[in-house]
Amino acid sequence: MGVRTPVGAFAIALILFLIQSGFAQQGSLSSREQRSALLDLRSSLGLRSKDWPIKADPCSSWTGVKCNNGKVIGITVSGLRRTRLGRTNPRFAVDSLANFTLLATFNASGFALPGIIPDWFGQRLSALQMLDLRSASVIGPIPQSLGNLSKLNTLYLSGNNITGVVPSALGNIAELVILDLSRNSLTGSIPSGFASLRNLTRLDLSSNFLSGQIPPGLGTLTRLQFLNLADNSLTDSIPVQFGNLSQLLELHLSKNSLSGSFPVELRGLRS
Ligand SMILES: *[C@@H]1O[C@H](CO)[C@@H](O)[C@H](O)[C@H]1NC(C)=O
Ligand SMILES: *[C@@H]1O[C@H](CO)[C@@H](O)[C@H](O)[C@H]1NC(C)=O
Ligand SMILES: *[C@@H]1O[C@H](CO)[C@@H](O)[C@H](O)[C@H]1NC(C)=O
Ligand SMILES: *[C@@H]1O[C@H](CO)[C@@H](O)[C@H](O)[C@H]1NC(C)=O
Ligand SMILES: *[C@@H]1O[C@H](CO)[C@@H](O)[C@H](O)[C@H]1NC(C)=O
Ligand SMILES: *[C@@H]1O[C@H](CO)[C@@H](O)[C@H](O)[C@H]1NC(C)=O
Repeated sequence: MGVRTPVGAFAIALILFLIQSGFAQQGSLSSREQRSALLDLRSSLGLRSKDWPIKADPCSSWTGVKCNNGKVIGITVSGLRRTRLGRTNPRFAVDSLANFTLLATFNASGFALPGIIPDWFGQRLSALQMLDLRSASVIGPIPQSLGNLSKLNTLYLSGNNITGVVPSALGNIAELVILDLSRNSLTGSIPSGFASLRNLTRLDLSSNFLSGQIPPGLGTLTRLQFLNLADNSLTDSIPVQFGNLSQLLELHLSKNSLSGSFPVELRGLRS
């Protein structure tokens, strides 16, 4: 009888709505294609049933898989162990990531992905906001195409064997807040275009083989709190423009071939 009254009907509708939106928000993968792509990823990386149980819903039960409205928005394989078979031939085999059109985060920090960052990362993962490949046995160059990831705010590639130059295209990613390419084998100079990365708070290029002058334009990155260029082969003098980095908490320039006098302007760095 209560159901027939407007209040009862409203209450039931409200409850149904809450249940539905609750489910939609966290779980129940709604796309058949994404499910099959997750299964592909599970097999190409050799992940274990313990972490990614094949019969359970990935959105609610798979470690490190995050969904929104039934679509995958985040994958963290960091900390997962591979099956014995997966360990015998680990590769940077993540082609199925291209099917997660809303993927905002991919974290494989400390998870061995021996191989090269695929060029299509920059073309297909256009929703990516965070990419963490720290200490993941990555080799080869950083693809220019990563400069297309216009939503990227966090890029960690440190502690790998990455070679080649630092792509100037990275200077196009205006949203970048954290850029860490430290402890690799990068050569060439620091792109002067990095002066456009106005939102950067952390820039770490330390322990590479970077040479040439420190771009004076870095002195315009007024949100920088942490700047580490140590342990490279940088030459010439410390830009006087660094005196403008008023938010700076840490500045590391040791183990380079810098010359000239210490800019008095740096006395303005009160933090
Ligand atoms: C994922 O995307 C690729 C390329 O767009 C496609 O060829 C492949 O069939 C898709 N895989 C799955 C499992 O849907
Ligand atoms: C990636 O995952 C590791 C392990 O869970 C975590 O420590 C790290 O902070 C994550 N990276 C980012 C950028 O959140
Ligand atoms: C992505 O970046 C590459 C290399 O920087 C560029 O040639 C290409 O036009 C860009 N756009 C797309 C959508 O891939
Ligand atoms: C880089 O490669 C060398 C050999 O090619 C290897 O010994 C070293 O452990 C690698 N470093 C990292 C951080 O993976
Ligand atoms: C930088 O950060 C601000 C505030 O955090 C944000 O509004 C803005 O969209 C970001 N991007 C650029 C390119 O300034
Ligand atoms: C930055 O530093 C230079 C040299 O010290 C100075 O001439 C200039 O006015 C500063 N710019 C800003 C925006 O503070």
